[in-house]
Amino acid sequence: MEKIIISGGKKLKGDVTISGAKNAAVAVIPATLLVSDICRIENIPSISDITLMCKIMSEMGANIRMVNKNTLEIDTRKVASAVVSCDLIRNMRASFYITGALLGRFSKAAVSLPGGCNFGGIRPIDQHLKGFTALGANCKLDGGVVHVSSEKLIGNNIYLDVVSVGATVNIMLAAVKADGCTVIENAAKEPHIVDLANFLNCMGANVCGAGTDIIKVHGVKKLNGITYSIIPDQIEAGTYMVAAAATKGDVTINNVTPKHLESITAKLEEIGVSIEEKDESLRVYVNKDHLIRCNVKTLPYPGFPTDMQPQITALLSTVNGTSIVSEGVWDNRFGYVEELRRMGAQISVDGKMAVIEGVQRLKGATVRAPDLRAGAALITAGLCADGTTIIEEISHIERGYENIIEKLRSLGANIKKVTFDDDPINSVAKAL
Ligand code: EPZ
Repeated sequence: MEKIIISGGKKLKGDVTISGAKNAAVAVIPATLLVSDICRIENIPSISDITLMCKIMSEMGANIRMVNKNTLEIDTRKVASAVVSCDLIRNMRASFYITGALLGRFSKAAVSLPGGCNFGGIRPIDQHLKGFTALGANCKLDGGVVHVSSEKLIGNNIYLDVVSVGATVNIMLAAVKADGCTVIENAAKEPHIVDLANFLNCMGANVCGAGTDIIKVHGVKKLNGITYSIIPDQIEAGTYMVAAAATKGDVTINNVTPKHLESITAKLEEIGVSIEEKDESLRVYVNKDHLIRCNVKTLPYPGFPTDMQPQITALLSTVNGTSIVSEGVWDNRFGYVEELRRMGAQISVDGKMAVIEGVQRLKGATVRAPDLRAGAALITAGLCADGTTIIEEISHIERGYENIIEKLRSLGANIKKVTFDDDPINSVAKAL
C-alpha cells in the first residue's frame, strides 16, 4: 500500500513547471477516434488517468506509441468496432467521451456507463443523451451499457439544461461529421472545451464559438490526423498557487495561461496573497503575517472552479476569521472535510456550504484521500501543518497530478511516497 508522508511547516520556494491539462487530454485522446489516421499529441501529462484512457483505446484496436514521456502517437486505423466491452471504462468519467467519438465516426456506439470521482451519488448523463437524441440517435440503456445509433446524424439546436463540460464535449464530438449545423446553447466554456475545439478544427472540423456559451458545429465530411499540443493544466497550476499561499512561500509557476487562472488569482489576492503575472508564468508569494478570511462560491468557468474548492478550503482553514465556501456545481463535494477535521480544522458543512472557522495551525494526522482534488487539499493542509501527515489512498492523487512529490520536493517540501508491505507483521516502509 502506498502512502504520502509530509513533515509540515516548510515554506515552498522556487520554480515549478505545470504539465499538460488532464481534462483537455482526456477529451482530445478519444477525439482521435473520429479519424482513421495517425495523430501525435504533445504535452500529455504523465498521470494514471491517461494510462487508463490509453489502455481502453488500445483494447479497442488503437495502436498507441509513447514517443516520449509526454508525447503519444495514436493510430486509429484498426479501430473497426463501435462496441466497447472493456471493464476499465467504469473506472473513469471521461471514458464516456468515447461514445460521442464513436457515434461521430461509425454512427453508433455501445459503451458501459462511466465511473469517476464520487460527488454524492450517480453522476448523470441525461444531457449527453439529450444531445445525441437531438442529432437523431436512438439511445437506450441496457445492462449498464449505453447503446446509441443513428442512420444519419443531422445537426440540430441543443439547449443544455445545466452547464455540463462532459455533455458539451460529447455533443461536439458527435456533431463534427453530422449533416448541417449543430448549435449547443448554454455550453460549458472551460479552457479544455476551447482546447478540444482547437484540436478538432486543426483536424479539419468547423467548430466556432468555443469559450462562449453558444458553440456552432458545422458538419464536415472528412477529418485528418494531425500533431497537436495540449494546453497547460489550469487546476494543477491553481493547486500550486494555493500551496504556495498556504505555506506563506514564494513560488514561480511556469508554463501557465494566466487568463485561465483569473478567478483563482482574484480570490488569492482578496485573501492577501501577492501575485505577479507574466506572459506564461505567475509568481505567488506572501509577504505579510496574516491572510484575510473570505467567501468563495464555485461556478462553471469563468467562475471559481469546483476543482479548486477543496484546496481553497484547506487554505482558509488556517486563516483567522469565518470563511464560507459554497459549492455551485456538484451536490456533494465536501466529503473530505472530515479528513481536514482530523487535522484540527474547524469546518461545519450544511448541504452545499462549508463554514470555516480559521485556526492558527493545523496538526499532522493520518488521513485518506477520498478523491483527486480532496487529495490535493490534504497535501496542502499537510504542507502547512505542524508535525507529520500521512495520506492514504493516494492513487486518487496520481490520477491527475504529474510528479507531484518530485515537484513539491523541488520547492523545498519535506514530502515522500512510501510503500508499506500490506502484511502488518512485515510492514517495513520503503522510501521511494
Ligand atoms: C468535468 O466533469 C471535469 N472532469 C470535473 O473535474 C469537473 O469537476 C466538472 O467538469 C465541472 O467543472 C473532466 O473534465 C474529465 P459536468 P463532468 O458534466 O464533465 C450535472 C477533476 O477533478 N450534470 O460539467 O462530469 C452534474 O451532476 C474532475 O478533474 C447533469 O445534471 O462534469 C454536475 O452537477 C472531477 N447531467 C454539473 O452538471 C448531465 O448529463 C456539472 O457536471 C451531466 C452533468
